[in-house]
Amino acid sequence: MTTRATRRRTVAVVLAGGTGQRIGLAIPKQLLKIAGRPILEHTLRVFENAPDIDDVIVLMTPSHVTEAEKIVSGAGLRKVSAVLAGGGTRSETTNIAIAAVSGRPGADEDCNLLFHDAVRPMLSQRVVKECVAALERYRAVDVAIPSADTVIVTRTHGGDGEFITEVPDRARLRRGQTPQGFRLSTIRTAYEHAAADPFFQATDDCSVVVKYLPDVPVHVVTGDEYNMKVTQPVDVFIADKLFQLASTTAPAHSGEEFYRDRLAGRTMLVFGGSYGIGGDIARIAREYGANVYALGRSTTGTHVENPDHVDEAFATAYAETGRIDFVVNTAGVLRIGRLDQADNATVREAMEVNYLAPVNIARTSYKYLAETGGQLLLFTSSSYTRGRAEYSLYSSTKAAMVNLTQALSDEWAEDGIRVNCVNPERTATPMRTKAFGQEPEGSLLSSEEVARSSLDVLLSAMTGHVIDVRRQDPTSAPDSAFESALSQVLNHSESQTD
Ligand code: CTP
Repeated sequence: MTTRATRRRTVAVVLAGGTGQRIGLAIPKQLLKIAGRPILEHTLRVFENAPDIDDVIVLMTPSHVTEAEKIVSGAGLRKVSAVLAGGGTRSETTNIAIAAVSGRPGADEDCNLLFHDAVRPMLSQRVVKECVAALERYRAVDVAIPSADTVIVTRTHGGDGEFITEVPDRARLRRGQTPQGFRLSTIRTAYEHAAADPFFQATDDCSVVVKYLPDVPVHVVTGDEYNMKVTQPVDVFIADKLFQLASTTAPAHSGEEFYRDRLAGRTMLVFGGSYGIGGDIARIAREYGANVYALGRSTTGTHVENPDHVDEAFATAYAETGRIDFVVNTAGVLRIGRLDQADNATVREAMEVNYLAPVNIARTSYKYLAETGGQLLLFTSSSYTRGRAEYSLYSSTKAAMVNLTQALSDEWAEDGIRVNCVNPERTATPMRTKAFGQEPEGSLLSSEEVARSSLDVLLSAMTGHVIDVRRQDPTSAPDSAFESALSQVLNHSESQTD
Protein backbone atom coordinates (compact mmCIF):
# COMPACT_ATOMS: atom_id res chain seq x y z
CA MET A 1 0.00 0.00 0.00
CA THR A 2 1.26 3.49 -0.75
CA THR A 3 1.30 5.83 2.21
CA ARG A 4 -0.57 9.08 2.16
CA ALA A 5 2.58 11.08 1.53
CA THR A 6 3.64 9.02 -1.49
CA ARG A 7 0.28 7.98 -2.80
CA ARG A 8 -0.34 7.88 -6.51
CA ARG A 9 -1.77 11.00 -8.12
CA THR A 10 -5.45 10.75 -9.09
CA VAL A 11 -7.05 12.84 -11.82
CA ALA A 12 -10.85 12.93 -12.05
CA VAL A 13 -12.08 13.23 -15.63
CA VAL A 14 -15.61 14.57 -15.75
CA LEU A 15 -17.25 13.57 -19.02
CA ALA A 16 -19.67 16.31 -19.98
CA GLY A 17 -19.34 16.19 -23.75
CA GLY A 18 -22.84 14.93 -24.51
CA THR A 19 -25.96 16.79 -25.56
CA GLY A 20 -28.63 14.75 -23.78
CA GLN A 21 -30.78 13.79 -26.76
CA ARG A 22 -33.03 11.56 -24.65
CA ILE A 23 -34.02 14.45 -22.40
CA GLY A 24 -34.55 16.51 -25.50
CA LEU A 25 -33.95 20.04 -24.24
CA ALA A 26 -32.21 22.94 -25.96
CA ILE A 27 -29.24 22.88 -23.57
CA PRO A 28 -27.05 19.88 -22.68
CA LYS A 29 -28.57 18.13 -19.65
CA GLN A 30 -25.43 18.63 -17.53
CA LEU A 31 -26.26 22.35 -17.52
CA LEU A 32 -29.81 21.87 -16.22
CA LYS A 33 -30.30 23.28 -12.77
CA ILE A 34 -31.34 20.97 -10.00
CA ALA A 35 -31.68 22.26 -6.46
CA GLY A 36 -30.63 25.67 -7.73
CA ARG A 37 -27.30 24.65 -9.31
CA PRO A 38 -26.24 23.14 -12.65
CA ILE A 39 -25.86 19.35 -12.53
CA LEU A 40 -22.23 19.77 -13.65
CA GLU A 41 -21.50 21.95 -10.62
CA HIS A 42 -22.92 19.38 -8.18
CA THR A 43 -20.73 16.71 -9.77
CA LEU A 44 -17.60 18.84 -9.71
CA ARG A 45 -18.16 19.65 -6.04
CA VAL A 46 -17.98 15.96 -5.17
CA PHE A 47 -14.44 15.77 -6.55
CA GLU A 48 -13.50 19.16 -5.12
CA ASN A 49 -14.37 17.79 -1.67
CA ALA A 50 -12.73 14.39 -2.15
CA PRO A 51 -9.39 14.26 -0.31
CA ASP A 52 -8.04 11.59 -2.69
CA ILE A 53 -8.55 13.65 -5.85
CA ASP A 54 -5.64 15.86 -6.86
CA ASP A 55 -6.81 17.30 -10.13
CA VAL A 56 -10.04 17.53 -12.15
CA ILE A 57 -10.47 18.00 -15.87
CA VAL A 58 -13.80 18.66 -17.55
CA LEU A 59 -14.63 17.59 -21.10
CA MET A 60 -17.52 19.72 -22.25
CA THR A 61 -19.86 19.78 -25.24
CA PRO A 62 -17.84 21.95 -27.69
CA SER A 63 -20.56 24.58 -28.07
CA HIS A 64 -20.83 25.08 -24.28
CA VAL A 65 -17.23 25.22 -23.05
CA THR A 66 -17.61 28.85 -21.94
CA GLU A 67 -20.62 27.98 -19.74
CA ALA A 68 -18.63 25.21 -18.09
CA GLU A 69 -15.73 27.60 -17.47
CA LYS A 70 -18.12 30.07 -15.88
CA ILE A 71 -19.49 27.37 -13.58
CA VAL A 72 -15.97 26.44 -12.51
CA SER A 73 -14.90 29.99 -11.73
CA GLY A 74 -18.27 30.99 -10.21
CA ALA A 75 -18.24 28.05 -7.82
CA GLY A 76 -14.58 28.57 -6.91
CA LEU A 77 -13.64 25.02 -7.85
CA ARG A 78 -9.90 25.07 -7.32
CA LYS A 79 -9.08 21.52 -8.35
CA VAL A 80 -10.33 21.96 -11.93
CA SER A 81 -7.19 22.50 -14.02
CA ALA A 82 -8.72 22.40 -17.51
CA VAL A 83 -12.04 22.61 -19.33
CA LEU A 84 -11.65 21.06 -22.80
CA ALA A 85 -14.00 20.41 -25.71
CA GLY A 86 -15.32 16.83 -25.76
CA GLY A 87 -15.71 14.56 -28.80
CA GLY A 88 -18.61 13.34 -30.93
CA THR A 89 -19.10 10.15 -28.90
CA ARG A 90 -18.44 9.30 -25.28
CA SER A 91 -15.44 7.18 -26.31
CA GLU A 92 -14.01 10.05 -28.36
CA THR A 93 -14.39 12.27 -25.34
CA THR A 94 -12.51 9.72 -23.21
CA ASN A 95 -9.77 9.60 -25.83
CA ILE A 96 -9.36 13.36 -25.76
CA ALA A 97 -9.00 13.19 -21.97
CA ILE A 98 -6.37 10.44 -22.16
CA ALA A 99 -4.37 12.42 -24.71
CA ALA A 100 -4.64 15.59 -22.62
CA VAL A 101 -3.40 13.90 -19.44
CA SER A 102 -0.64 11.96 -21.29
CA GLY A 103 0.57 15.11 -23.01
CA ARG A 104 1.13 17.08 -19.84
CA PRO A 105 4.73 17.86 -18.97
CA GLY A 106 5.99 15.28 -16.50
CA ALA A 107 2.86 13.12 -16.96
CA ASP A 108 3.01 10.08 -14.72
CA GLU A 109 2.20 6.88 -16.68
CA ASP A 110 1.11 5.24 -13.50
CA CYS A 111 -1.27 7.95 -12.28
CA ASN A 112 -4.92 7.09 -11.71
CA LEU A 113 -7.69 8.39 -13.93
CA LEU A 114 -11.28 8.30 -12.64
CA PHE A 115 -13.75 8.79 -15.48
CA HIS A 116 -17.13 9.98 -14.28
CA ASP A 117 -20.33 10.90 -16.08
CA ALA A 118 -21.07 14.56 -15.42
CA VAL A 119 -24.74 13.61 -15.23
CA ARG A 120 -24.31 11.49 -12.08
CA PRO A 121 -24.30 14.31 -9.54
CA MET A 122 -25.12 12.12 -6.55
CA LEU A 123 -21.83 10.29 -6.41
CA SER A 124 -20.85 9.56 -2.81
CA GLN A 125 -17.49 10.20 -1.20
CA ARG A 126 -17.45 6.53 -0.17
CA VAL A 127 -17.41 5.36 -3.79
CA VAL A 128 -14.65 7.81 -4.78
CA LYS A 129 -12.57 6.65 -1.83
CA GLU A 130 -13.11 2.95 -2.56
CA CYS A 131 -12.23 3.40 -6.24
CA VAL A 132 -8.98 5.15 -5.43
CA ALA A 133 -8.15 2.53 -2.79
CA ALA A 134 -8.88 -0.30 -5.27
CA LEU A 135 -6.52 1.28 -7.80
CA GLU A 136 -3.63 0.65 -5.43
CA ARG A 137 -4.15 -3.05 -6.16
CA TYR A 138 -5.84 -3.22 -9.53
CA ARG A 139 -5.23 -1.44 -12.81
CA ALA A 140 -8.94 -1.14 -13.65
CA VAL A 141 -11.98 -0.57 -11.45
CA ASP A 142 -15.69 -0.39 -12.20
CA VAL A 143 -18.62 0.68 -10.02
CA ALA A 144 -21.84 -1.34 -10.23
CA ILE A 145 -24.97 -2.27 -8.30
CA PRO A 146 -27.13 -5.41 -8.39
CA SER A 147 -30.00 -5.33 -10.82
CA ALA A 148 -33.42 -5.18 -9.19
CA ASP A 149 -35.11 -5.78 -12.52
CA THR A 150 -34.90 -9.01 -14.44
CA VAL A 151 -32.97 -8.21 -17.61
CA ILE A 152 -33.98 -9.78 -20.87
CA VAL A 153 -32.22 -10.00 -24.22
CA THR A 154 -34.43 -9.49 -27.25
CA ARG A 155 -34.34 -9.67 -30.98
CA THR A 156 -36.46 -7.67 -33.36
CA HIS A 157 -38.45 -9.84 -35.68
CA GLY A 158 -39.44 -8.08 -38.87
CA GLY A 159 -42.48 -5.92 -38.38
CA ASP A 160 -43.73 -8.05 -35.45
CA GLY A 161 -41.68 -6.24 -32.78
CA GLU A 162 -39.37 -7.66 -30.14
CA PHE A 163 -39.06 -11.23 -28.83
CA ILE A 164 -37.07 -12.64 -25.92
CA THR A 165 -34.03 -14.68 -26.88
CA GLU A 166 -32.44 -15.02 -23.45
CA VAL A 167 -33.07 -14.28 -19.77
CA PRO A 168 -29.67 -14.09 -18.04
CA ASP A 169 -29.51 -15.11 -14.37
CA ARG A 170 -30.35 -11.92 -12.48
CA ALA A 171 -28.13 -12.83 -9.52
CA ARG A 172 -25.05 -12.40 -11.71
CA LEU A 173 -26.14 -9.20 -13.39
CA ARG A 174 -24.93 -5.80 -12.25
CA ARG A 175 -25.80 -2.33 -13.47
CA GLY A 176 -22.70 -0.39 -14.38
CA GLN A 177 -22.27 3.13 -13.05
CA THR A 178 -19.32 5.51 -12.91
CA PRO A 179 -16.67 6.38 -11.87
CA GLN A 180 -14.54 3.91 -13.73
CA GLY A 181 -10.92 4.07 -12.71
CA PHE A 182 -7.70 3.06 -14.46
CA ARG A 183 -3.99 3.54 -14.41
CA LEU A 184 -3.24 5.94 -17.27
CA SER A 185 -1.07 3.47 -19.22
CA THR A 186 -3.76 0.75 -19.01
CA ILE A 187 -6.66 2.76 -20.38
CA ARG A 188 -4.45 4.32 -23.03
CA THR A 189 -3.28 0.93 -24.27
CA ALA A 190 -6.87 -0.37 -24.34
CA TYR A 191 -7.95 2.59 -26.46
CA GLU A 192 -4.94 2.15 -28.77
CA HIS A 193 -6.11 -1.41 -29.49
CA ALA A 194 -9.65 -0.16 -29.96
CA ALA A 195 -8.45 2.39 -32.52
CA ALA A 196 -7.24 -0.48 -34.71
CA ASP A 197 -10.66 -2.18 -34.62
CA PRO A 198 -12.95 -0.92 -37.41
CA PHE A 199 -15.99 -2.28 -35.55
CA PHE A 200 -15.19 -0.59 -32.25
CA GLN A 201 -18.06 0.83 -30.27
CA ALA A 202 -18.58 1.28 -26.52
CA THR A 203 -20.83 3.13 -24.09
CA ASP A 204 -18.36 3.00 -21.20
CA ASP A 205 -14.63 2.65 -20.57
CA CYS A 206 -14.38 -0.63 -18.62
CA SER A 207 -15.80 -2.55 -21.56
CA VAL A 208 -12.86 -1.28 -23.64
CA VAL A 209 -10.39 -2.81 -21.17
CA VAL A 210 -12.43 -6.03 -20.90
CA LYS A 211 -12.47 -6.40 -24.67
CA TYR A 212 -8.97 -5.32 -25.67
CA LEU A 213 -6.95 -6.21 -22.56
CA PRO A 214 -8.67 -9.42 -21.44
CA ASP A 215 -5.85 -10.27 -19.04
CA VAL A 216 -6.38 -7.16 -16.93
CA PRO A 217 -8.79 -7.94 -14.09
CA VAL A 218 -11.42 -5.23 -13.60
CA HIS A 219 -12.30 -4.97 -9.94
CA VAL A 220 -15.88 -4.00 -9.05
CA VAL A 221 -16.71 -1.52 -6.29
CA THR A 222 -20.32 -1.52 -5.08
CA GLY A 223 -22.09 1.67 -6.15
CA ASP A 224 -25.13 3.39 -4.68
CA GLU A 225 -28.72 3.16 -5.87
CA TYR A 226 -28.91 6.94 -5.82
CA ASN A 227 -25.81 7.38 -8.01
CA MET A 228 -28.24 7.59 -10.91
CA LYS A 229 -27.51 8.91 -14.36
CA VAL A 230 -29.82 11.74 -15.30
CA THR A 231 -30.95 10.39 -18.65
CA GLN A 232 -34.71 10.61 -19.08
CA PRO A 233 -36.98 13.57 -18.20
CA VAL A 234 -38.27 11.76 -15.09
CA ASP A 235 -34.70 11.55 -13.74
CA VAL A 236 -34.52 15.34 -13.51
CA PHE A 237 -37.57 15.28 -11.26
CA ILE A 238 -36.24 12.46 -9.07
CA ALA A 239 -32.79 14.03 -8.74
CA ASP A 240 -34.31 17.39 -7.88
CA LYS A 241 -36.44 15.83 -5.14
CA LEU A 242 -33.47 14.00 -3.68
CA PHE A 243 -31.41 17.16 -3.62
CA GLN A 244 -34.26 19.03 -1.94
CA LEU A 245 -34.32 16.44 0.82
CA ALA A 246 -30.61 16.01 1.10
CA SER A 247 -29.00 17.80 3.96
CA THR A 248 -25.45 18.38 4.96
CA THR A 249 -23.63 17.80 8.20
CA ALA A 250 -21.99 20.67 10.04
CA PRO A 251 -18.30 21.31 9.52
CA ALA A 252 -16.05 19.75 12.16
CA HIS A 253 -15.32 21.80 15.28
CA SER A 254 -12.19 23.95 15.02
CA GLY A 255 -9.55 24.88 17.56
CA GLU A 256 -10.15 27.62 20.17
CA GLU A 257 -7.88 30.03 18.31
CA PHE A 258 -10.05 29.83 15.19
CA TYR A 259 -13.24 30.79 17.04
CA ARG A 260 -11.51 33.66 18.83
CA ASP A 261 -10.00 34.91 15.59
CA ARG A 262 -13.30 34.80 13.68
CA LEU A 263 -15.62 36.01 16.44
CA ALA A 264 -13.72 38.64 18.40
CA GLY A 265 -14.97 42.10 17.53
CA ARG A 266 -17.76 40.79 15.28
CA THR A 267 -21.39 41.57 15.96
CA MET A 268 -24.03 38.90 16.29
CA LEU A 269 -27.77 39.26 16.76
CA VAL A 270 -29.54 36.25 18.20
CA PHE A 271 -33.32 36.36 18.11
CA GLY A 272 -34.72 33.82 20.54
CA GLY A 273 -31.49 34.30 22.46
CA SER A 274 -32.89 34.18 26.00
CA TYR A 275 -32.48 30.46 26.54
CA GLY A 276 -32.20 27.10 24.73
CA ILE A 277 -30.12 26.87 21.56
CA GLY A 278 -30.19 30.62 20.98
CA GLY A 279 -29.08 31.27 24.55
CA ASP A 280 -26.13 28.91 24.15
CA ILE A 281 -25.08 30.38 20.79
CA ALA A 282 -25.10 33.85 22.36
CA ARG A 283 -23.13 32.75 25.42
CA ILE A 284 -20.44 30.86 23.51
CA ALA A 285 -19.99 33.60 20.88
CA ARG A 286 -19.65 36.14 23.69
CA GLU A 287 -16.98 33.99 25.36
CA TYR A 288 -14.94 34.23 22.15
CA GLY A 289 -15.20 37.99 22.15
CA ALA A 290 -18.15 38.68 19.84
CA ASN A 291 -20.49 41.59 20.52
CA VAL A 292 -23.65 39.63 21.02
CA TYR A 293 -27.17 40.98 21.18
CA ALA A 294 -29.30 38.18 22.62
CA LEU A 295 -32.87 39.21 22.03
CA GLY A 296 -35.89 37.59 23.57
CA ARG A 297 -39.38 38.22 24.78
CA SER A 298 -38.58 37.51 28.39
CA THR A 299 -35.24 39.31 28.53
CA THR A 300 -35.14 42.30 26.21
CA GLY A 301 -38.88 42.46 25.50
CA THR A 302 -38.18 41.85 21.79
CA HIS A 303 -41.19 40.37 20.03
CA VAL A 304 -39.71 38.90 16.86
CA GLU A 305 -43.03 39.12 15.06
CA ASN A 306 -43.07 42.87 15.52
CA PRO A 307 -41.12 44.51 12.65
CA ASP A 308 -40.51 47.64 14.75
CA HIS A 309 -38.84 45.58 17.47
CA VAL A 310 -36.70 43.85 14.86
CA ASP A 311 -35.70 47.13 13.19
CA GLU A 312 -34.84 48.64 16.52
CA ALA A 313 -32.65 45.70 17.52
CA PHE A 314 -30.64 46.00 14.28
CA ALA A 315 -30.38 49.78 14.52
CA THR A 316 -29.12 49.64 18.12
CA ALA A 317 -26.52 46.96 17.44
CA TYR A 318 -25.28 48.82 14.36
CA ALA A 319 -25.15 52.17 16.14
CA GLU A 320 -23.19 50.66 19.03
CA THR A 321 -20.74 48.46 17.13
CA GLY A 322 -20.71 49.80 13.56
CA ARG A 323 -21.32 46.40 11.96
CA ILE A 324 -23.52 43.30 11.90
CA ASP A 325 -21.86 40.04 10.86
CA PHE A 326 -24.15 37.25 12.01
CA VAL A 327 -27.90 37.07 12.42
CA VAL A 328 -29.40 34.01 14.05
CA ASN A 329 -33.06 33.26 14.63
CA THR A 330 -33.91 30.40 16.95
CA ALA A 331 -37.26 31.80 18.13
CA GLY A 332 -40.08 29.33 17.56
CA VAL A 333 -43.30 28.01 19.04
CA LEU A 334 -44.41 24.40 19.10
CA ARG A 335 -48.02 23.64 19.99
CA ILE A 336 -49.20 20.13 19.38
CA GLY A 337 -52.78 19.47 18.36
CA ARG A 338 -55.23 19.05 15.56
CA LEU A 339 -55.64 22.05 13.28
CA ASP A 340 -59.44 21.86 13.36
CA GLN A 341 -59.26 22.30 17.11
CA ALA A 342 -56.75 25.14 17.13
CA ASP A 343 -58.09 28.55 18.07
CA ASN A 344 -57.32 31.78 16.23
CA ALA A 345 -54.67 32.83 18.71
CA THR A 346 -52.73 29.59 18.32
CA VAL A 347 -52.78 29.81 14.54
CA ARG A 348 -51.78 33.44 14.59
CA GLU A 349 -48.95 32.84 17.04
CA ALA A 350 -47.45 30.02 14.91
CA MET A 351 -47.64 32.12 11.76
CA GLU A 352 -46.20 35.18 13.41
CA VAL A 353 -43.38 33.65 15.40
CA ASN A 354 -42.37 30.79 13.12
CA TYR A 355 -42.87 32.47 9.76
CA LEU A 356 -43.49 36.20 9.80
CA ALA A 357 -40.65 36.84 12.27
CA PRO A 358 -37.89 35.14 10.24
CA VAL A 359 -39.17 36.90 7.12
CA ASN A 360 -38.95 40.28 8.90
CA ILE A 361 -35.56 39.46 10.36
CA ALA A 362 -34.27 38.41 6.95
CA ARG A 363 -35.61 41.54 5.28
CA THR A 364 -34.05 43.86 7.79
CA SER A 365 -30.76 41.99 7.94
CA TYR A 366 -30.06 42.33 4.22
CA LYS A 367 -28.45 45.76 4.13
CA TYR A 368 -26.32 45.08 7.22
CA LEU A 369 -25.11 41.66 6.09
CA ALA A 370 -24.35 42.97 2.60
CA GLU A 371 -21.88 45.36 4.21
CA THR A 372 -19.98 42.64 6.03
CA GLY A 373 -20.53 39.64 3.72
CA GLY A 374 -22.21 38.06 6.72
CA GLN A 375 -24.58 35.21 7.36
CA LEU A 376 -28.21 34.67 8.27
CA LEU A 377 -28.86 31.42 10.12
CA LEU A 378 -32.37 30.02 10.43
CA PHE A 379 -33.67 26.89 12.14
CA THR A 380 -35.93 24.16 10.87
CA SER A 381 -37.19 20.87 12.26
CA SER A 382 -36.76 17.33 11.00
CA SER A 383 -40.49 17.41 10.17
CA TYR A 384 -39.70 19.72 7.24
CA THR A 385 -39.48 16.78 4.86
CA ARG A 386 -42.97 15.61 5.67
CA GLY A 387 -45.84 17.29 7.46
CA ARG A 388 -47.03 15.44 10.54
CA ALA A 389 -50.42 14.91 12.06
CA GLU A 390 -50.93 17.17 15.09
CA TYR A 391 -47.90 19.28 14.16
CA SER A 392 -49.38 20.94 11.10
CA LEU A 393 -48.56 24.52 12.10
CA TYR A 394 -45.10 23.70 13.35
CA SER A 395 -43.99 21.38 10.57
CA SER A 396 -45.38 23.53 7.77
CA THR A 397 -43.87 26.77 9.07
CA LYS A 398 -40.56 24.98 9.68
CA ALA A 399 -40.62 23.59 6.14
CA ALA A 400 -40.98 27.18 4.99
CA MET A 401 -37.61 27.96 6.62
CA VAL A 402 -35.87 25.55 4.29
CA ASN A 403 -37.53 27.08 1.28
CA LEU A 404 -36.73 30.59 2.51
CA THR A 405 -33.09 29.63 3.06
CA GLN A 406 -32.76 28.25 -0.45
CA ALA A 407 -34.45 31.26 -2.04
CA LEU A 408 -32.45 33.86 -0.11
CA SER A 409 -29.12 32.12 -0.54
CA ASP A 410 -29.62 32.44 -4.30
CA GLU A 411 -31.06 35.94 -4.14
CA TRP A 412 -28.19 37.23 -2.01
CA ALA A 413 -25.31 35.19 -3.40
CA GLU A 414 -24.05 38.10 -5.47
CA ASP A 415 -23.99 40.33 -2.39
CA GLY A 416 -21.78 37.82 -0.61
CA ILE A 417 -24.41 37.05 2.04
CA ARG A 418 -24.62 33.43 3.16
CA VAL A 419 -27.90 31.92 4.31
CA ASN A 420 -28.18 28.52 5.98
CA CYS A 421 -30.65 26.56 8.01
CA VAL A 422 -29.87 24.22 10.91
CA ASN A 423 -31.98 21.12 11.42
CA PRO A 424 -31.29 19.94 14.95
CA GLU A 425 -32.23 16.44 15.95
CA ARG A 426 -34.38 16.21 19.07
CA THR A 427 -32.74 18.70 21.39
CA ALA A 428 -33.12 19.29 25.11
CA THR A 429 -34.62 22.79 25.13
CA PRO A 430 -37.27 24.48 27.27
CA MET A 431 -39.56 24.57 24.19
CA ARG A 432 -39.31 20.82 23.87
CA THR A 433 -39.82 20.09 27.56
CA LYS A 434 -42.91 22.30 27.53
CA ALA A 435 -44.35 20.30 24.64
CA PHE A 436 -43.24 16.78 25.56
CA GLY A 437 -42.42 16.80 29.28
CA GLN A 438 -39.28 15.14 30.62
CA GLU A 439 -37.71 12.63 28.21
CA PRO A 440 -35.17 9.88 28.96
CA GLU A 441 -31.67 11.12 29.60
CA GLY A 442 -29.33 10.53 26.64
CA SER A 443 -32.16 10.46 24.10
CA LEU A 444 -31.75 14.17 23.36
CA LEU A 445 -29.01 16.28 21.88
CA SER A 446 -27.73 19.02 24.18
CA SER A 447 -28.49 22.58 23.14
CA GLU A 448 -24.81 23.38 23.68
CA GLU A 449 -23.82 20.82 21.02
CA VAL A 450 -26.32 22.33 18.56
CA ALA A 451 -25.00 25.80 19.42
CA ARG A 452 -21.39 24.75 18.72
CA SER A 453 -22.33 23.26 15.35
CA SER A 454 -24.33 26.40 14.55
CA LEU A 455 -21.20 28.47 15.16
CA ASP A 456 -19.25 26.16 12.85
CA VAL A 457 -21.83 26.84 10.15
CA LEU A 458 -21.77 30.59 10.81
CA LEU A 459 -18.00 30.64 10.38
CA SER A 460 -17.99 28.49 7.24
CA ALA A 461 -18.26 29.52 3.60
CA MET A 462 -21.34 27.35 3.05
CA THR A 463 -24.59 28.84 1.81
CA GLY A 464 -28.01 27.51 0.88
CA HIS A 465 -27.61 24.41 3.03
CA VAL A 466 -29.81 22.54 5.45
CA ILE A 467 -27.40 21.29 8.06
CA ASP A 468 -28.34 18.25 10.12
CA VAL A 469 -27.03 18.24 13.65
CA ARG A 470 -27.20 14.82 15.25
CA ARG A 471 -25.86 13.09 18.30
CA GLN A 472 -22.36 11.88 17.49
CA ASP A 473 -22.61 8.22 16.63
CA PRO A 474 -19.90 7.41 14.10
CA THR A 475 -21.23 3.89 13.55
CA SER A 476 -24.55 5.13 12.25
CA ALA A 477 -23.34 8.25 10.45
CA PRO A 478 -24.72 8.16 6.92
CA ASP A 479 -22.12 8.39 4.19
CA SER A 480 -23.84 11.02 2.15
CA ALA A 481 -26.55 13.60 2.22
CA PHE A 482 -28.70 11.36 0.03
CA GLU A 483 -28.43 8.43 2.35
CA SER A 484 -29.38 10.69 5.22
CA ALA A 485 -32.36 12.03 3.23
CA LEU A 486 -33.53 8.51 2.48
CA SER A 487 -33.16 7.41 6.09
CA GLN A 488 -35.15 10.45 7.19
CA VAL A 489 -37.97 9.52 4.85
CA LEU A 490 -37.89 5.90 6.05
CA ASN A 491 -37.79 6.93 9.72
CA HIS A 492 -40.78 9.15 9.18
CA SER A 493 -42.83 6.28 7.92
CA GLU A 494 -41.71 4.18 10.85
CA SER A 495 -42.42 6.63 13.64
CA GLN A 496 -44.27 9.87 13.57
CA THR A 497 -42.76 11.46 16.64
CA ASP A 498 -40.41 14.40 16.39
N1 CTP B 1 -20.62 12.21 -22.98
C1 CTP B 1 -19.45 12.81 -23.41
N2 CTP B 1 -19.22 12.97 -24.74
C2 CTP B 1 -20.10 12.53 -25.64
C3 CTP B 1 -21.28 11.88 -25.23
C4 CTP B 1 -21.51 11.74 -23.88
O1 CTP B 1 -18.65 13.23 -22.56
N3 CTP B 1 -19.84 12.73 -26.92
C5 CTP B 1 -20.91 12.16 -21.54
C6 CTP B 1 -22.23 12.83 -21.21
O2 CTP B 1 -22.06 14.25 -21.11
C7 CTP B 1 -22.63 12.19 -19.93
C8 CTP B 1 -21.99 10.82 -20.01
O3 CTP B 1 -21.08 10.84 -21.10
O4 CTP B 1 -22.15 12.88 -18.80
C9 CTP B 1 -23.02 9.71 -20.16
O5 CTP B 1 -23.63 9.79 -21.44
P1 CTP B 1 -25.18 9.85 -21.74
O6 CTP B 1 -26.03 10.05 -20.58
O7 CTP B 1 -25.46 8.72 -22.61
O8 CTP B 1 -25.15 11.30 -22.36
P2 CTP B 1 -25.67 12.02 -23.59
O9 CTP B 1 -24.97 11.56 -24.80
O10 CTP B 1 -25.51 13.45 -23.21
O11 CTP B 1 -27.22 11.66 -23.59
P3 CTP B 1 -28.11 11.04 -24.76
O12 CTP B 1 -27.55 9.67 -25.02
O13 CTP B 1 -29.50 11.04 -24.23
O14 CTP B 1 -27.94 11.96 -25.92
